[in-house]
Amino acid sequence: MGKDVIIACDFPSAGETLAFLDKLGAPAPFVKIGMELFYAEGPSVVRTLKERGCRVFLDLKLHDIPNTVKKSMAVLSGLGADIVNVHAAGTRAMMEAALEGLMRPDGTRPLLIAVTQLTSTDEKTMADELLIPRPMEEVVLSYAQNARRAGLDGVVCSPLEAGRVHEVCGKQFLTVTPGVRFPEGEKGDQKRVMSPVEAKKAGSDYIVVGRPITAAEDPAAAYARCLREFVD
Ligand code: C5P
Repeated sequence: MGKDVIIACDFPSAGETLAFLDKLGAPAPFVKIGMELFYAEGPSVVRTLKERGCRVFLDLKLHDIPNTVKKSMAVLSGLGADIVNVHAAGTRAMMEAALEGLMRPDGTRPLLIAVTQLTSTDEKTMADELLIPRPMEEVVLSYAQNARRAGLDGVVCSPLEAGRVHEVCGKQFLTVTPGVRFPEGEKGDQKRVMSPVEAKKAGSDYIVVGRPITAAEDPAAAYARCLREFVD
């Protein structure tokens, strides 16, 4: 898979998601389904979007004992998701189990990426509450290396970290980056942001874009702009 724009479909129902996609006009964009939509609608929403021809990043961030994650991943793989994810904090044993669970009988599997540290966690909270008294970049890169050693395909990270992750884990190791904003747009609750142009320069493989497209007056134009600035 080459560079692409993944639209974060953070809607409360399948109905609203499909209405948005109809308005978008693009036949089958790459979409992200997060916990809100998945917990509201269940597996059927993945099948519905796959039937429309969309590629699906199922962003459920699994984190449990290896056996539970392995069996759960087998279920998600069967839904036809194209990318799924886990927390790297679940350890290499858990990530390896996740990979085993994802393998389909025909030898294919979804891409598996790991969340390193959530962008909502800062260095002080990490030290005070998680008892990890190290610089954020060191922790993120170390978790990314664990994910690579476990055989994963990449990580979710800030576009600001994409370049360093590629330096340490190799160019083939995918960086999937939320926190993308147009320079003149609202940042909302995102703190560390980059524009599609900057994310491309930083080496992101996939940008995950939610509100700059979903809340735009003209979502089709906003999506087209992301594609033009990041992919072309
Ligand atoms: O609307 P916005 O562009 O901020 O959407 C970004 C999407 O990426 C949301 O679905 C959010 O949950 C997700 N995400 C994130 N930061 C992370 C991991 C996921 O913003 N570290």
